[in-house]
Amino acid sequence: MNVIIPKENLDNETRVAATPGTVKELIKSGVNVLVESHAGMSSHVSDKDYENAGATILDSKTELFAKADIVLKVLPPTLDQIVLLRPKTALVSFCQTTRDIETVRALKEQSVTGFSMHLIPRTTLAQKMDALSSQANIAGYKAVLMAASRLGVYMPLLMTAAGTIRPAKVLVLGAGVAGLQAIATAKRLGAQVEAFDVRPVVKEQVESLGAKFIEVESKNDEGVGDGGYAKETSDDYKKRQQELIHEHISKSDVVITTALIPGRPAPLLIPTTMVEAMGPGSIIMDLASENGGNCELTKKDEIIDHNGVTIDGTSNIPGSMPVHASELYAKNITAFLTYMIKDGELQLDLEDEIISGAMYTHHGEITNEPTEEALKR
Ligand code: NAI
Repeated sequence: MNVIIPKENLDNETRVAATPGTVKELIKSGVNVLVESHAGMSSHVSDKDYENAGATILDSKTELFAKADIVLKVLPPTLDQIVLLRPKTALVSFCQTTRDIETVRALKEQSVTGFSMHLIPRTTLAQKMDALSSQANIAGYKAVLMAASRLGVYMPLLMTAAGTIRPAKVLVLGAGVAGLQAIATAKRLGAQVEAFDVRPVVKEQVESLGAKFIEVESKNDEGVGDGGYAKETSDDYKKRQQELIHEHISKSDVVITTALIPGRPAPLLIPTTMVEAMGPGSIIMDLASENGGNCELTKKDEIIDHNGVTIDGTSNIPGSMPVHASELYAKNITAFLTYMIKDGELQLDLEDEIISGAMYTHHGEITNEPTEEALKR
């Protein structure tokens, strides 16, 4: 069986789905690994490194795709690459299947079996396959550094001969994986950190990192949805949340927003009026920009200035740290693939909750319900 590792095709995608270490692991599981020439270049992995690990390097993308039994990628292949795949090929990559409708349709028509790293269940057994967490961790960490390097003020409190410098105030909206890492990083830099989340259960985690949790009083945990994820809240809750955020945001130097609701556009937490209440020189890092953004003014992959407030909508922040982003992603995707390989062959146990949970197309059918619903819309 040939596992192929193509070079990512989008300009701002620096990551790659395999490292020499994971190539060795894949070969040990009984498959051949074919890597497209220069696939690891942006992550500082050379063709020679892959070759030394036992992979075969191919120059032609067309030849590579035509030889694939399994494709490992960061982002889904383009439509003109999908048509090169043979029926029954398996594809593992990130894919927001309720949004990337054209990709899903093309994979279905080509009879490709699609697995999305977005859909891997957040269970204990699947923890090592959890690419959402490994990449969100990087985004949370790097977003704080990006904000700090652009900020006109110090992060920590400083007592100098010329006077005392107050610490910067950082507000984190959404304290999931990215938010908690952002809190930890901002604390390490010495900032005063506050955080808000609709899930009251994160209060303890936020406080254990030394940050202050700001909360909307709610009797029935109304922001808590299935599987411990967030869900849409009532209009009354949203109104009280807006008032609370407004009060805190106007005093913040940096706001890091990470709020997401699975399968829905990102919730709007910062309307323009709130941006206008912020001081000049302050910065909003909107990590939800890929899903529409938490700030009304966010433009995906643009850094804009609104009355002196910077709003950074960079979407692929993990891509700015490609070495570790690729290393962790490659480990996640290899853990998932080797879980499905027995004696060098792909064994798809459709009763297995990780395999069936991550699958969205198989034998020309859509196998994931929300994806099927999205296709009908
Ligand atoms: P996410 O990326 O889906 O969302 C980020 C955060 O935004 C979440 O904490 C969410 O509650 C929050 N949020 C949503 N709407 C909001 C709003 N209107 N205002 C403020 N905050 C809002 O979440 P992520 O980081 O992927 O983690 C979600 C859950 O999954 C957490 O409970 C986490 O602990 C859990 N998890 C479990 C894992 C496992 O058991 N293997 C691994 C990773 C995460």
